Amino acid sequence: MSDAGILLEVRDLRTYFHTDDGVVRAVDGVSFDLAKRRIVGVVGESGCGKSVTALSILRLIPSPPGRIESGSIRLHRDHETVDIAALSATGKKIREIRGADISMVFQEPMRTLSPIYSIGSQIMESVRLHIGLNKQDAKEYAVHMLRSVGMPDPEQRVNEYPHQLSGGMRQRAMIAMALSCRPKLLNADEPTTALDVTIEAQILQLLTELQHEYHMSILFITHDLGIISKMADTVLVMYLGRIVERAPAVELFENPSHPYTQALFRSIPAMAAAPKAKLEVISGSVPDPTVTIHGCPFAPRCPHAHERCTADPGYTEIGPNHAVACWLYES
Ligand SMILES: Nc1ncnc2c1ncn2[C@@H]1O[C@H](COP(=O)(O)OP(=O)(O)OP(=O)(O)O)[C@@H](O)[C@H]1O
Ligand SMILES: [Mg+2]
Repeated sequence: MSDAGILLEVRDLRTYFHTDDGVVRAVDGVSFDLAKRRIVGVVGESGCGKSVTALSILRLIPSPPGRIESGSIRLHRDHETVDIAALSATGKKIREIRGADISMVFQEPMRTLSPIYSIGSQIMESVRLHIGLNKQDAKEYAVHMLRSVGMPDPEQRVNEYPHQLSGGMRQRAMIAMALSCRPKLLNADEPTTALDVTIEAQILQLLTELQHEYHMSILFITHDLGIISKMADTVLVMYLGRIVERAPAVELFENPSHPYTQALFRSIPAMAAAPKAKLEVISGSVPDPTVTIHGCPFAPRCPHAHERCTADPGYTEIGPNHAVACWLYES
C-alpha cells in the first residue's frame, strides 16, 4: 500500500441545526484533506463544531433539526470515490461505509456500547455484518481484537457486559469495536477526556500503535493542546464552525499565527493547572451561535480587530501547508 494519497476531501461543508431559537451554523464552510495514514488534530473551544464535523462525515447528524446544507465529503475508496454528503443518511451505502471505511470512538463509551449485550457479542455483530464471519470465527476474532487493544484476560472479558469493565477497559472495548472491520479512518472524538491521566497516556499510546498497525488515518478531536502536539501530523484550529488556521503540528506550535490560536496557546498555563478543563479562559465569550456573522468570527474578541474584519478574510498561505484566515497576513 502506498503511503501517499488523500483518503478524504472535505470541501466547504456546512452543517446547520434548525432550532426553535434560530439556525445554528455548527459547521460553516469547512474544508480540509485527510491524508492516508496521517493524524489530523482538531482543536477549539467547546461548541466550535468539532463533533458536528466528525458526525457529518459519518452522516450521524440528528435530523431534524440537523442537516448538511452544502459542500462535499469525498471518500476515496479502492475502486470509487463517494461523496458522503450526497448519500442518503439511512441508505445502504453509508451503512456499508460506517465501520468498514470509517468508524468513531467517543468520549463516553456508553454511547457506543449497549448495556444489554456482552462486549464480545457487540464486536461479533459488527464483524458478522461487514466481514461475514460465522459465529465461531467471529467470537475468536472478537477475542483477538480485545487482545490487540490490550484488554487483560480477553477470553474471559469477551463474555462480560460493559458495566463490569473499568472506564479504561470500556474505552479499549470501544476501540476494539471501532477497529474490528479495519476502517481506513477513525474519528476519535475526545476519546480520553473522561479518563485519568495515566489511563489516558495508555490509550493514546494504544491509538498510535494501532494507527501504524492498521495503516489508518485518524481525525483526532480534543481541546487539549498537549495531546495534539504529541499525536497530530496536521492541526485544524476551529472557531465558531470555521477553520481559522491549518498547519503541520510542529509549525503550529512554533508559529501560531491566527490571533485565536495565539490566545489558545496563551491559555496553556491555565490548562496545565487543570488539564481536563475546557478551553474557556480567553477573554470575551463565544457569541450566540444563531447570530449570523459577517467576516471574521473572532473579530469581537480579537485584540487586532479592525474595520476590514467585517469582511471575510479568506485564507492566506503563510508557509508550506500553513493557512490562516486573518487579514493580518493579507499581503
Ligand atoms: N442536536 C443539536 N441540536 C442543536 N444544536 C446542536 C446540536 N448538536 C450540536 N449543536 C450545536 O452545534 C454547535 C457545535 O457543536 P459541537 O458539538 O460540534 O461542538 P464541539 O466543538 O464538539 O464542542 P465540545 O468541545 O463541547 O464537545 C454548538 O453550538 C452546539 O450547540
Ligand atoms: Mg464535541
